[in-house]
Amino acid sequence: MPRCRFASDGREAVVPAGTGAMSVADALAASVPFSCRYGVCGACLVTVRSGGESLDPPSDGERETLRNVDASPGQRLCCRIVLRADLVLENAPW
Ligand code: FES
Repeated sequence: MPRCRFASDGREAVVPAGTGAMSVADALAASVPFSCRYGVCGACLVTVRSGGESLDPPSDGERETLRNVDASPGQRLCCRIVLRADLVLENAPW
């Protein structure tokens, strides 16, 4: 089962593959801002510090939101991330 770590908070959990990263953030009370939870608002932007190679590529909708919020390479929307392997995420410096 993959381990998901929120580096900014130092919180982590081992969860079943297929778990959404936002669900993990909720369970850990990790400080990931959110609003829509549907990949539209961009509030949940995080930087993937490791494990990004295991992630599904962003959908067209996520790509559009990432463009709209001027995301940097390596940043993804936490609410769109599905865990497949170990992952380390860091909150974006808003
Ligand atoms: S909470 Fe809105 S894009 Fe993730």
